[in-house]
Amino acid sequence: MSSTQKVHILITGANQGLGFVSAQQLLRQGDNLHIYIAARDPKKGQEALQKLNEQSDKKASNSVELVELDITNDDSIDQITKQVKQLDILVNNAAISGGMEEAKGASAIRKQLQNVYNTNIFGTVALTDALLPLLTTGTHSVKPAIINISSDLGSFGNQNNPDWRHYKIPFAFYPSTKSALNMFTTVYAKKLPDLRIISVNPGYTATNFNGNTGYKTPEEGASAYTHAILNFNGPSDTFVEQGGKTIPW
Ligand SMILES: NC(=O)c1ccc[n+]([C@@H]2O[C@H](COP(=O)([O-])OP(=O)(O)OC[C@H]3O[C@@H](n4cnc5c(N)ncnc54)[C@H](OP(=O)(O)O)[C@@H]3O)[C@@H](O)[C@H]2O)c1
Repeated sequence: MSSTQKVHILITGANQGLGFVSAQQLLRQGDNLHIYIAARDPKKGQEALQKLNEQSDKKASNSVELVELDITNDDSIDQITKQVKQLDILVNNAAISGGMEEAKGASAIRKQLQNVYNTNIFGTVALTDALLPLLTTGTHSVKPAIINISSDLGSFGNQNNPDWRHYKIPFAFYPSTKSALNMFTTVYAKKLPDLRIISVNPGYTATNFNGNTGYKTPEEGASAYTHAILNFNGPSDTFVEQGGKTIPW
């Protein structure tokens, strides 16, 4: 570890929502950070970059850079491995809900599931694999980490707890992608003991993801990310939420 190097953090899908707000919080709260904000739409990415650079409470030791990335596109993933030369923390945030109304009929079900899994799992795992060499080799300013943005909807413990506020939710496609993501977290954490690999639950937050119906503000939801990202010496193989509290797998 080298304490003189900046901490390089890449957040996927950071042009809006929780990824963007976490970047704002990191620029305000962290020190010596270089944040790559990834966006699939370069125009939206430029707008986000401008806002972050103009943020009045951004610390001078922190910097931000825009990278274009669509995690469903293998050429785009390949491109990012050429563009990003140093990485300490990968935040797998980009995801879609795929629609909470679940399709009926074999081909419609197949289409909807393939769509949501293509982003939330296939894209996330493919990107992680492509960036692993940057995390597992070279010198790092902090213990390299993969922060998988999951959801309490993907927790088997919650889904089986009658006291949990979303018990008996009537949809399973999106939640199952987050259960699958949690499995990647826990298996990779054991396979790669030199890395800190965790899942994070922001909680139900008002963003475009859910038509702004969530009960948490984006500041509250993103604080779960920011705490997890900056908790450089925290444990691996865990599932945490706001305030660093653990939640059941
Ligand atoms: N909001 C909640 O209540 C809640 C609760 C639990 C967990 N989560 C999780 O938190 C994360 C962020 O959610 P959010 O509420 O901030 O959602 P959001 O506002 O919809 O933002 C999602 C971001 O992901 C990007 N994205 C989607 N597909 C992509 C792709 N193929 N390649 C690259 N980027 C892509 C979007 O880009 P565009 O702007 O181009 O669409 C956007 O920047 C997700 O993993 C979500 O599952 C959210």
